[in-house]
Amino acid sequence: MIHKNLVILTGAGVSAESGVPTFRASDGLWEGHRIEAVATPEGFAANPALVQDFYNQRRRHLATVQPNAAHRALADLAARWDGDFLLVTQNVDDLHDRAHAETPPASGFELIHMHGELNKARCTASGVVCDWTGDLEAEQASPHHPRGRMRPHIVWFGEMPLAMERIEAALERCDLFVSIGTSGAVYPAAGFVQLARMACARTVEINLQPTQGARLFDEGVYGPATEAVPAFVADL
Ligand code: APR
Repeated sequence: MIHKNLVILTGAGVSAESGVPTFRASDGLWEGHRIEAVATPEGFAANPALVQDFYNQRRRHLATVQPNAAHRALADLAARWDGDFLLVTQNVDDLHDRAHAETPPASGFELIHMHGELNKARCTASGVVCDWTGDLEAEQASPHHPRGRMRPHIVWFGEMPLAMERIEAALERCDLFVSIGTSGAVYPAAGFVQLARMACARTVEINLQPTQGARLFDEGVYGPATEAVPAFVADL
């Protein structure tokens, strides 16, 4: 079967072998912090210094890691894909971005960071989003608005993920949906496979091991992403 419209969803598992910690493993990011304290608007309002420092540390760490073979295999696929290819990532790292910068994608490709990006900041007053690779202070004055403060451009719990209409439109017309390195623990991303099934797409899960939603997929490919993703891409 020739696939034309592809949607790929990635999670922390695709960046794990680059040295970026996942969330729900034993050494995951949420083990060291209370989600409410560092990943909610309330946590930010209560203790901006703690929250800014949490993301400053992750942003600094990002400068020390590189895309891995899974990121590069997806960039190779995007470079030669003849059709629509939407890559939706829950990850806030820039490893997909860097891999696609090294191997420019074909015209039908789009990358969406539905949970925001570590290397961007957002003005609390104007909503303006700009590149930000340095640290953010607790009360970081905004260059975009006299009363604004700069916050991480990260979607916190209780906030709406980004570009949902664009993502849902792509899922409704896709004929292949691949979910890579995500536990399927967090909605709305965990529900994307259901939309793909309603579009009669072929659905594939690629993960270290079967996830709680494995039975929702037509196929499962299990193993480290740096091995499983290049192999899957090679077969496409
Ligand atoms: N190769 C493939 N898969 C892996 C690897 C690897 N090397 N290492 C871990 N995994 C898998 C794990 O088995 C797990 O299913 O990646 C998944 C990571 O799951 P989570 O840690 O829950 O991360 P994710 O699914 O991306 O979390 C989704 O939750 O906390 C929020 O906003 C945060 O974007 C995040 C969202």
